[in-house]
Amino acid sequence: MNLMTTPKPATSAKVTTAAMMKALVYQGPGKKALEDRPKPEITAPTDAIVKITKTTICGTDLHILKGDVPTCQPGRILGHEGVGIVEKVGAAVTAFKAGDHVLISCVSACGKCEYCRKQMYSHCTTGGWILGNKIDGTQAEFVRIPYADTSLYPIPEGADEEALVMLSDILPTGFECGVLNGKVAPGSTVAIVGAGPIGLAALLTAQFYSPGEIIIIDLDDNRLEVAKRFGATATINSTDGKAWETVMKMTGKRGVDTAIEAVGIAVTFELCQKIIAAGGAIANIGVHGKKVDLHLEELWDRNISITTRLVDTVTIPMLFKTVSSKKIDPKLLITHHFKLDKVLDAYETFGNAAKTKALKVIIEA
Ligand SMILES: NC(=O)c1ccc[n+]([C@@H]2O[C@H](COP(=O)([O-])OP(=O)(O)OC[C@H]3O[C@@H](n4cnc5c(N)ncnc54)[C@H](O)[C@@H]3O)[C@@H](O)[C@H]2O)c1
Ligand SMILES: [Zn+2]
Ligand SMILES: [Zn+2]
Repeated sequence: MNLMTTPKPATSAKVTTAAMMKALVYQGPGKKALEDRPKPEITAPTDAIVKITKTTICGTDLHILKGDVPTCQPGRILGHEGVGIVEKVGAAVTAFKAGDHVLISCVSACGKCEYCRKQMYSHCTTGGWILGNKIDGTQAEFVRIPYADTSLYPIPEGADEEALVMLSDILPTGFECGVLNGKVAPGSTVAIVGAGPIGLAALLTAQFYSPGEIIIIDLDDNRLEVAKRFGATATINSTDGKAWETVMKMTGKRGVDTAIEAVGIAVTFELCQKIIAAGGAIANIGVHGKKVDLHLEELWDRNISITTRLVDTVTIPMLFKTVSSKKIDPKLLITHHFKLDKVLDAYETFGNAAKTKALKVIIEA
């Protein structure tokens, strides 16, 4: 572009003829709408613009809509999961080019800061979980992805797009925060509290390590039924408040080697503390908005470990291989399909999971 001859736009006149797109926009607690928004542009040389082909809704989007996530301000396009086609890349992007089929990580990683060098992408000093939170997200026709080289993953030809949408967030979350931190081992006894998409993702990926028993605990019989189909060896409906006694009976009063908390409330974290065997590991995944008690008076001599983690998505390439080789089939989590212009119906269905039996919904842009 010849800058010398480019006329300055008149300040009073609107000169923008930006191309528009459809996007799901957070409008403040309890409010969202499908809006026409300008298509995103490259703003840094490390950016890519991706045309979304498929995206989904996460429980975290529902948290945002409740007003639980103050970093996400009204006007934000939601969504941090998805696959698509690269439309254009900034001058510094070397790993991707226009036309490439890509998987988007829910976590943006600069690849260079102290945390990224430690593979703690979730704490990247200029990235982390910003997509659909601090910057516009994937529930739109197009999205701007910062640090494209280290935040996108190539999708090989012939791969199943829908299965891969599950790799943006829920599979790595269940695996990294639950299974890896919980040190699931061959022959061990595992309990997963919460059979939502995240708990079920932990259930699918725990089986890489051949634990002896996987006990799934939830309040929803439908989800427990799904858990059985996904490989749970036992399920417990904890509505009666007696899950603790049932687990102790099942394990000969010993408890479980790994207790994975996949709900995010006090009562389920307390249950994990009650059922953990000596030497065991409690792996918290749930996002806790309220105070939770830690019973050190019971646990100080039990040789246990407790971990917390924000998903880093460092295991996406490894999980990709397990999906390609059909070791796991994350497509099993998909219950509903919608077009982007019906995204409000998709939220309605996903938000009423007990009634609609929804797990993950696919939204086609
Ligand atoms: N650490 C991370 O990086 C990370 C990433 C993504 C999601 N999360 C969190 O993981 C948690 C699970 O996510 P999800 O999408 O599967 O949520 P979800 O709401 O779909 O599932 C939660 C499940 O817990 C069950 N449940 C509720 N109360 C219960 C109780 N008292 N006892 C037993 N089960 C109970 C519900 O029936 C539901 O099936 C959420 O807190 C989410 O915010 C954490
Ligand atoms: Zn999420
Ligand atoms: Zn970084």
